[in-house]
Amino acid sequence: MSGYVDVAKILSGERDGERVSLRGWLYNRRSSGGIQFLEVRDGTGVVQCTLGRGSVDEETYNRVEGLPLESTVELEGVVNLDNRAPFGREVSVNNVGGVSAAMPDFPITKKRHGIEFLMDHRHLYVRNPKVQAMMRIRAKFLQAARYWFDEHGYTETHSPSFQTMACEGGSTLFNVEYFDREGVYLSQSWQLYAEAMIATLGKIYTIAPSFRAEASRTRQHLAEYWHMEMEVPWASLQDIMVVGDELVTHMAHALAEEMPRELRLVGRDPAELLALEPPFPRISYDEAVELLNEQGVEMYWGDDFGRTQEEPLSRSFEKPVWVVGFPTGIKPFYHMPDQGRPDVTLSADLIAPEGYSEIIGGGQRVHDYEQLLQRIIDDGWDPENYSWYLDLRKWGTVPHSGFGLGVERVIMWMTKQDHIRDTIPFPRDMRRVFP
Ligand code: 4AD
Ligand code: MG
Repeated sequence: MSGYVDVAKILSGERDGERVSLRGWLYNRRSSGGIQFLEVRDGTGVVQCTLGRGSVDEETYNRVEGLPLESTVELEGVVNLDNRAPFGREVSVNNVGGVSAAMPDFPITKKRHGIEFLMDHRHLYVRNPKVQAMMRIRAKFLQAARYWFDEHGYTETHSPSFQTMACEGGSTLFNVEYFDREGVYLSQSWQLYAEAMIATLGKIYTIAPSFRAEASRTRQHLAEYWHMEMEVPWASLQDIMVVGDELVTHMAHALAEEMPRELRLVGRDPAELLALEPPFPRISYDEAVELLNEQGVEMYWGDDFGRTQEEPLSRSFEKPVWVVGFPTGIKPFYHMPDQGRPDVTLSADLIAPEGYSEIIGGGQRVHDYEQLLQRIIDDGWDPENYSWYLDLRKWGTVPHSGFGLGVERVIMWMTKQDHIRDTIPFPRDMRRVFP
């Protein structure tokens, strides 16, 4: 057999009436009246293949009948239209090629499994159609983002994952053994290195893992997540909020237009994503505190949002909402204090609607050397550790801004999932690094 055809091509109707070879995993099967109905899955789809007694020799027929689920098969046959088959076509097989029989006891069965069991078997559960759809959506999401950045003149660039300083506070730093050096951590953010790169590449972005030693177990935190970050020279906080509006809208529309079937399968009506339009509403941090207090939610000026605050805030708006101007005390050293009102920073978080959480965090950076030095000291860090970062303010400093978007957070909202673990192939959290 040669010239294997993707199942997607067969399902699309391109090969109707033709003789094709295909190969894949035996996903489901039943027999009735001397015909075996074999559902074969490859990386592109699932197609029903029929194998009639008599269309191959007896021994082959029996061998296929004895194959456990998830065995791999190579089949040859003719693509026929059939109203009863899912997708309206099936392959009538009359030649069976290479076969690799699976063990008879594939752990994932039709019965309901508990979530712990499924996560323990994630390496096999990824074959589930819903997981498959989620991962396709994820791939499309990243592709759409890269397309948007490319169209708007951004260059993709990277930072090291081993870093010697905190970007987002000490409590979520992962310490690593780095030869004989102390004080080496996994990256919390690409940002500090991005601030060096804007002086050579201009507008930049990245899509890369970030690491947070989050000691709490929640539905929206991972220990390793994919971080989409952007940084722009001569940009203000206002400028990057516009980028956030357009980028998020573009990705929502791209998913709705290109992945409607997958979205429906995982529980999101694509029309809801298509309806999203910029600009997103903006409220000040002060207004957010007031709004929450009016709703009877406990929130004191100067505190950061927890889930108790984030959720009702999220539900107060139809679209994602920007909260602008967080208190200086709850934002890291690099945030620029508002000149007219130094108790707040030129920062903004974007909160997703429908009860979801913060999906973007960003703002304008301190670009003055003395001010930055003071902010680092005030935050309790050793300026020695930040010497190269401070250097950036000595040679050609400019006002600049950027943000970080949590890839899994946005996908979780856009696909309407209850838990962030469903948006990434092998989630890492406090309790899970296996498989
Ligand atoms: O708000 P964060 O911590 O901001 C930064 O890291 C900035 N240095 C980004 C920048 O300006 N370049 O993280 C940014 C986003 C959050 O809004 C959230 O969506 C996501 O990253 N995020 C997480 N996602 C999953 N699991 C976690 N533990 C996350 N922590 C943050
Ligand atoms: Mg944040």
